Order: sequence, then structure tokens, then C-alpha cells
Amino acid sequence: MRREIALLLGLALTLSPLTGCVRERRERTIRVGVTLYQQEDTFISALAQSLQQKALEEERIRGIKMNLSMMDGWGSQAVQTEQIDRFLDKGCDVICVNLVDRTAASTIIDKAHAAQVPIIFFNREPIREDLDRWDRAYYVGSHAAQAGELQGELVARAWRESSERMDRNGDGVLQYVMLEGEPGHQDALLRTEYSIKTLTEAGITVEKLANDAGDWQRGKASVLMTQWLQTYGDQIEVVFSNNDDMALGAIDACLEAGRSKEDLPFVVGVDATRPALEAVREGTLQGTVHNDADGQAESILSLICALAEGREPEKAVLLEGGTYVWLNHTVVTRENVDEIRSERRAAPILKALETGK
Ligand code: GAL
Ligand code: CA
Repeated sequence: MRREIALLLGLALTLSPLTGCVRERRERTIRVGVTLYQQEDTFISALAQSLQQKALEEERIRGIKMNLSMMDGWGSQAVQTEQIDRFLDKGCDVICVNLVDRTAASTIIDKAHAAQVPIIFFNREPIREDLDRWDRAYYVGSHAAQAGELQGELVARAWRESSERMDRNGDGVLQYVMLEGEPGHQDALLRTEYSIKTLTEAGITVEKLANDAGDWQRGKASVLMTQWLQTYGDQIEVVFSNNDDMALGAIDACLEAGRSKEDLPFVVGVDATRPALEAVREGTLQGTVHNDADGQAESILSLICALAEGREPEKAVLLEGGTYVWLNHTVVTRENVDEIRSERRAAPILKALETGK
């Protein structure tokens, strides 16, 4: 059932031909256990890949050795908890947890506390009372409400600028459907709430035709959208999606139902994954909100190193209340999509990973 995804990132430092330096002896190994709620999730796999790349970079630059053991929780809290037990048994210096079940945090924090191993949660946010159980439990993520607000602003701006195109039935009311992430996930709850709140606070009248949980998945969202197209057809003016994969699923359903690319409803997502950026460029996805996977990976890595080396985490990352590291979101539309793309392409370590060097 379990699959160990990877990877010992213990690359030897290469010789510098210019200085003729001898191979540097590794003084220190940092052992890190990382467990993902579901490795095949598009955003999570981008974040995990970024973390691996940055760990390689850190090894190269600082001449330390990082043993990053990354596991897939396969969507099962029981499986994930067992992985955490193993990380603690193996003597990891730090563990990083992308929880399957947000409500399982307290037990896991207590285990880490007992073993005196600092724990960094990311992307799936435990409740504050759980994080408060121990002062060496941290969370790295982005403000869910902010993603919703920015998505709402994106749609509000488009509605103001081209309501004659978006308001298909010309009644002055924005008819929408909402594709939600997993029930109970902070990003599903708050993105849903704040996207719509932003529109209504901007004075736009909205009407919800349908909503349902597509659990972040393209296939599930496509099934839901197919049903909604059968029931509401042309009445659907805007598709709000809590993430990009589901937004792409909605677009798949429209195209499969025979809609042309020019005749799609106004579809918006969150994440700015690679396939979503392609769709923004193509004009099928009208916009998304950049969920900074690279920034999150970078903060996680800085925290790992500080904690493992006994440095003050406050000096390594911007730490709110001694516990939280927050990354900002930005809106992505056709106008700025190339900036986001080139930013990613510029990542220096990408090449090394691709060639396996
Ligand atoms: C969200 C992201 C989703 C999904 C989810 C998993 O932040 O937008 O696409 O990856 O996290 O927890
Ligand atoms: Ca309308």
C-alpha cells in the first residue's frame, strides 16, 4: 500500500575545477520526514517538488547533507500517522506534515512533543488550539480568506468592465455555480465564503444556482459540471472554483458538452498550477489566484534548517505569533500570466533536477 516516494538528497559536493578544492567533508546531516496527504494532488506535488529542489540547492550552497524522506499518505490518516511514528522512531530532526485530516493534529503534536522533534504543518491548517499545545509546532500556508477575496475582486472587475458579455440573460444579476474543495478544509470553507462576500460587498447582486464538493479533483468537478449544464445550461454565467484542477474540470465538461472555447462561462480558479496557466493563456480559464507553492517550500526549508541547527526560527522566517508563516496570494489573468511563468522558469535548480545531477 505504501510507497516511499523518494529520496536521499545526499549529493556529494562536486570539485571546483578552478580552485582545485578537494571534496568537502560533510559535517552535518539533517534528517527530515515529510508526509503528504495525497501525492497526486497537483498543487501538493508542485510544492513537494519545489521542496526537493530547494533542499538540493541548500546542500550545494551550504555543504550540508539533507536526508529528506518523503511519503505519500494516500488520503488515509491511519497510514499517515504510522509514517509519522516511523519518522520519530528513525530519529528525524524535524517532521513536516501535510495532514490528511486537519482534526488529527492534536495527537500528532503530542507524539512530536514527547519525542522532542519540532513539527511543521503545511497547507492543511490545524486549528489554533492544537498548534498552541506545543511551542515547537508551526504552520506554513497562505490565508484562505485572501484567496477568496482576490478571486471575488477578479470577477467583480470583469463584471464591471464587460457585463454585457458575462450577463448572458441580461437581468443584471450574476448567476453562478460553486465548485468546492474537500468539506471541512479551510481553503474550501473560506475561499467559498469570501469570494461571494467580496462581490456582494462591491454591490453586485448574485444568484447561486448550485454548489457541491469536487474534492479538489478535475474528474469529480467535470462530473458535477456536466450535471449542472444539463439542468441550468446557458443560465450559468460564472463558475467559481476553489482550485484550478476543478476549474479545468468544469471547462472539460463544457467542451465535452459541445460548447466552443468562445462560448464558455466565466471560469475562475485558485493555485496557478502549470496546466491552469496554460488555460489562462489560451483564454479558456479567465483567471486564477497564485497560491505560492515555491514560497511555501522555501519557508518550510528555512524553518527546517533553523530548527535542526538550533537557530532561532524567528530569524529564519517571518513568524507570526511564534507559530505561523503566511505567504501572499496574487491575481493572475491573461494580462500578467507571462510574468508568473517566467518567474518559475527562472528557478535555477530546475535543470539540475531534470537531468538528475
Ligand atoms: C489547496 C489547493 C488545492 C489542494 C489543497 C490540498 O490550498 O488550492 O488545490 O491542493 O490545498 O490541501
Ligand atoms: Ca444574469
